[in-house]
Amino acid sequence: MLNSFFTFEWRNCSSRYIAVLAFLWSILKVKSLELNFGVQVSLDAAKVVNVTPRYAKLRAGANGSAKGQIIGWENIELISDRPLETMLKEFRQLKEEYPDRILIASIMEEYNKAAWEELIDRVEQTGIDAIEINFSCPHGMPERKMGAAVGQDCALLEEVCGWINAKAAVPVWAKMTPNITDITQPARVALRSGCEGISAINTIMSVMGINLNTLHPEPCVEGYSTPGGYSAKAVHPIALAKVMNIAQMMKAEFGDKDYSLSAIGGVETGGDAAEFILLGSNTVQDVVCLKRLVSFF
Ligand SMILES: Cc1cc2nc3c(=O)[nH]c(=O)nc-3n(C[C@H](O)[C@H](O)[C@H](O)COP(=O)(O)O)c2cc1C
Repeated sequence: MLNSFFTFEWRNCSSRYIAVLAFLWSILKVKSLELNFGVQVSLDAAKVVNVTPRYAKLRAGANGSAKGQIIGWENIELISDRPLETMLKEFRQLKEEYPDRILIASIMEEYNKAAWEELIDRVEQTGIDAIEINFSCPHGMPERKMGAAVGQDCALLEEVCGWINAKAAVPVWAKMTPNITDITQPARVALRSGCEGISAINTIMSVMGINLNTLHPEPCVEGYSTPGGYSAKAVHPIALAKVMNIAQMMKAEFGDKDYSLSAIGGVETGGDAAEFILLGSNTVQDVVCLKRLVSFF
């Protein structure tokens, strides 16, 4: 999968890309791979404490057999705990090494206009081509109005999108959460508030299962657990429906605009990606192949 590419269209430019999450860049020191990056950053990594283990897997096969193929992932990861300066340095490095590739920074910040403006400013200074705003992580510190806490509240979304689009010089995609009854509502608000594109879906709130030996939910950290975000092959049918809903809304209400829809969710094969494109998405993001890589480490 890493050597296959999807065609990416952004306004009048056409380029090839695979979107890759930032946390993997620290693992993948593979210069020969020609990747584009969707990179999750926020200003203050010191506020983040990630736990281990933070993933649980659902396997196909009888009784979740340990040999069954992994069809679902749950993650309870928070935002990256890598310092912003490190990320910015890597953005610059990537643009220097791959100037003809599209680099998209996926950013998330708390409900603070000045913090959003500073983050956008610093990220743009690295030469990135576009920004994806994470209004969609189900566990993105809702007490600080981050991630899905914004994407599930249209009034808040409109306000924050307004700040972001007033500041950003590059195109902005708003990434939507599927953890909402009608995903077209926040997508519409984001486009009306100046975003040029929509990404969908982020992970689905889930409890992966209960370990019947320990009686604790998975993943379990020192006896504690929390619902997390469900992804991978098992979410593909749900993602197809959500992307279809957004594509239909965009065609009906914004058909005269050059807006873009990026589809995400359980893409393992070219056929999976083609399904999204047939339903109206302009680009497709592949996260599953990266999870396979993570499994090696
Ligand atoms: C470990 C992990 C970390 C993720 N981190 C982010 C993130 O930082 N920002 C974001 O917008 N989405 C994040 N996501 C969500 C993915 O980008 C994607 O929307 C979701 O996993 C569904 O796609 P998939 O089924 O191909 O994995 C993460 C997903 C996983 C599994």
